[in-house]
Amino acid sequence: MKRFLKTALFTIIGLITVIGVALLFFNFKGVPTYEVAIPENMKNLKVEVTPERVARGEKIATVLCNGCHANNDNRLVGKAILDLPAEFGKAYSLNITQDKEHGIGNWTDGEIMYFLKTGIKRNGKYSPIMPKLPRMADEDVKSVIAYLHSDRFPVQATKGKQPEQAPSLLLKVLTNTVMKPLEPIKKPINVPDSTNIVEFGKYVANDMIACYACHSKDFSKQDPLHPENSLGFYGGGNPMPNLEGQIVPSSNITFDEKTGIGKKYTEAQFVDAVKLCKKSDGGVLRYPMQPHVTLTDYEVKAIYAYLKTIPKIKNQVK
Ligand code: HEC
Ligand code: HEC
Repeated sequence: MKRFLKTALFTIIGLITVIGVALLFFNFKGVPTYEVAIPENMKNLKVEVTPERVARGEKIATVLCNGCHANNDNRLVGKAILDLPAEFGKAYSLNITQDKEHGIGNWTDGEIMYFLKTGIKRNGKYSPIMPKLPRMADEDVKSVIAYLHSDRFPVQATKGKQPEQAPSLLLKVLTNTVMKPLEPIKKPINVPDSTNIVEFGKYVANDMIACYACHSKDFSKQDPLHPENSLGFYGGGNPMPNLEGQIVPSSNITFDEKTGIGKKYTEAQFVDAVKLCKKSDGGVLRYPMQPHVTLTDYEVKAIYAYLKTIPKIKNQVK
């Protein structure tokens, strides 16, 4: 018996030591670095900056990038991410203006596209906080890149450097174990024909804006390459901190009549909610829901048509 206890004790001490050493190792190693394996067709990408692309890119970036990257003067010089859950440490969005020293003036088009799709930067560093856009259509990604290279005010070369990222030990452990960069999809991705309103709405909701990311159950149980596999797809309840640190859970926007938007939102009310943050009962939707002002009414109606077709989820969000 004594011998058994001794063995058990040594095993426990051994385990604690191993875990301790592993934590020390992850803490020292930090967020991992990967090989920058830009696919051939992306490597030599040279995006032609046309007025159409700049306009489209600006429209997309206004709802997708500026919230995190713009300072108070609407320049994309980066800032502290105030609504990052505290357990992940501190993160700063970076300067993505054309400044060659502080911004991304020296990045090639291929490096930008690869980063947006995989989360791997040109120096190989993996970025866990910045959202990835693996399924956005090639032409839309090119439009975002054209906008970043344009003479529009927010992206003009501007000095300004953010502090070093300060990931918590938890984030370091997660990025060394379960949070991995995405494989870039190599086959061409096109924007679906807009006359097929459901397919088009599916593209806008899942692949262009990624509404599901906030509106499903949990950020850590999502599948950006196959959004439909995300836990509680569009059923809401994802606990999201606002800028004051209070929790605002995302809404159930499946068409469940009792707990979703099936009875709560007409198509016209839905357009007002998504574009202007107007609730159907007269109130205002709270941050982190944002007014998606640059989406067209047709794009938002298409999202509505698409949401009607996905499985209803019964989930009363409090
Ligand atoms: C949720 C906030 C958030 C959103 C939204 C966001 N970013 Fe970022 N972005 C970050 C953070 C945080 C970093 C820093 C990543 C790191 O270094 O780990 C970053 C880094 C970058 C970088 C790398 C800059 C460098 O010098 O290393 C580029 C390029 C970039 N973002 C472009 C974009 C574009 C384009 C969009 C819109 C399509 C966008 N971001 C949307 C948070 C965000
Ligand atoms: C950054 C996270 C985030 C993103 C991205 C986001 N939402 Fe929301 N949304 C929320 C939160 C949080 C709420 C709840 C706000 C509240 O309770 O005041 C909400 C509320 C809503 C509501 C109101 C539902 C109700 O029951 O009143 C609708 C409709 C909606 N979002 C649609 C969308 C659509 C469509 C998209 C994509 C174009 C989208 N949201 C993108 C976080 C987000």
